[in-house]
Amino acid sequence: MLAYNLIGSSLVALGALSIATMRARANWGSSALDRTTGAQEAVSERAPSPENDGWYHQHGDPSVVELGGSMGPRLIIVSNRVAVPEPGSKQMAGGLVVAVKAALRNRTGVWFGWSGKIDETETAEPRTVERNHITYAVIDLSKNDFEEYYNGLANRVLWPILHYRVDLQEYSRADHSGYMRVNRLFADKLSAFLREDDVIWVHDYHLMPLARELRIRGRLNPIGFFLHIPCAPLDILRTLPHHDEILGALTDYDLVGFQTENDRDNFAAYLSTAPGVKKGRGLTFEVEGRQTRIGAFPVSIETATYARLARKAARSPFAKEIRESLTGLRLVLGVDRLDYSKGIVQRINAFDRFLEVNPEWRSRVTLLQIAPRSRSAIIDYAAIENEVTTLIGRVNGRYGEAFWTPIRYINRFHSRTALSGIYRAADVALITPLRDGMNIVAKEYVAAQDPENPGVLVLSQFAGAAAELTGALIVNPHECDAVAAALKRALGMPLFERRERHGPMLEHLLVHDIDQWAESYLAALAETRQRPGLMSELRAFLSPSRSRTDRRATPEVRRQA
Ligand code: F6P
Repeated sequence: MLAYNLIGSSLVALGALSIATMRARANWGSSALDRTTGAQEAVSERAPSPENDGWYHQHGDPSVVELGGSMGPRLIIVSNRVAVPEPGSKQMAGGLVVAVKAALRNRTGVWFGWSGKIDETETAEPRTVERNHITYAVIDLSKNDFEEYYNGLANRVLWPILHYRVDLQEYSRADHSGYMRVNRLFADKLSAFLREDDVIWVHDYHLMPLARELRIRGRLNPIGFFLHIPCAPLDILRTLPHHDEILGALTDYDLVGFQTENDRDNFAAYLSTAPGVKKGRGLTFEVEGRQTRIGAFPVSIETATYARLARKAARSPFAKEIRESLTGLRLVLGVDRLDYSKGIVQRINAFDRFLEVNPEWRSRVTLLQIAPRSRSAIIDYAAIENEVTTLIGRVNGRYGEAFWTPIRYINRFHSRTALSGIYRAADVALITPLRDGMNIVAKEYVAAQDPENPGVLVLSQFAGAAAELTGALIVNPHECDAVAAALKRALGMPLFERRERHGPMLEHLLVHDIDQWAESYLAALAETRQRPGLMSELRAFLSPSRSRTDRRATPEVRRQA
């Protein structure tokens, strides 16, 4: 399985980055589809001449080829779902989407994955759409693939295990083989349009064995992986039947990135006991002479952009409506996908306790819980929805008045702009997941605040963000009384303390934003294939050419934020 030659692989992949090669490739490909789906072998047979199959950039300059095009190495992003921009429709803006867009910003690239559609006819070639230098290449899945790979092994097994919920895993051999089958399908479709100088970055738990499948198909490219969700400790990881086939396959990546040092260390502990894996120097592991590096790369947000969005949104008619609807009530906010890992039930219980022990706050505060439905075909998700709905009804029934609803509950999805306005209006964000890779809502809440009059973040110690957002009131979501007490403290916190807590968090996020995340990951990936002379070219490709504004949190940047 691992029988490919490391030295050969590195030299081929990196050698292909030479500028001469990039120039020679400048005119390959013949159509938009060809530019993303032409097989590597087919491409290499063609003479790089504009006469026979040359494709020209729409502006007529053959040296400026883009859209996942034919000049130079491309960054190929692979994730389960692809957010293809649809004109006029609200865009999904989860953590993964924001992260992928940052990685592709100002780079020539392709984003490949599932369209989100179910279709029984296998997609022969990925469908492509091109927008702003990015080629979106998508395939459909069959009903069986969707059930076994997505609902099955990915979300009924890997998701709970990696979130420390061994009790919820529902393993079946059929789902396991469905998961492997779809990873092979991704590898086949991807392999068909890969070039030897492409750099590949795979995202999330759906696609752990993808590098191994690509290596089997002879692909020697640099391949990185990033896990957006937590990585559980060794004993929990080992509850996954045949874990070596899935978790062990991560050693076929050159770099495996995690959200936090804790996640990284959990995986290091796993690898340290895995058969055939030798510990190398630092955070490097070796299998049959091939090296894998692991690292922590906390995902972030577009801090400055988000802060500007929130400032504008605060003046929008929507934000005005929210403020008016509050009629003087203080606003506590929860925003989560409806998922058992988010601790929504525990949060409602804590709010219940808060109202019980602090009667003076009744009729003076409201909790707005936004929770779009998610993965509804899975029984645990349907169960959590029922539980949350019942609980909220109970709290509203117990404390509510004809003129006051303690908890407002919304399942609707909100746009990024609308959310930023809601964050800005909220006095407190109650973000209390039982386990979360990062939780970008916590970061967005901080970015959205008015620095002169910021709200307070109450944050679970089990969210990856807690390692960075040290100005939050950090709570254990399992301790109902402690969360209720933190909420009381947050609502009564004086302005100077709110500013003192918020300022350093905002500064941190302005520096450690999503662009910095993407750049540091890609630089680390480049270093895994370090070869004298070729390194500078790979670096040059992986750092965007645009002149980035200095991200340091200068007073000016803070003011703009
Ligand atoms: O956070 C993990 C993740 O899988 C993200 O990749 C994704 O944006 C989110 O959860 C929603 O997942 P799904 O695609 O299953 O709706």
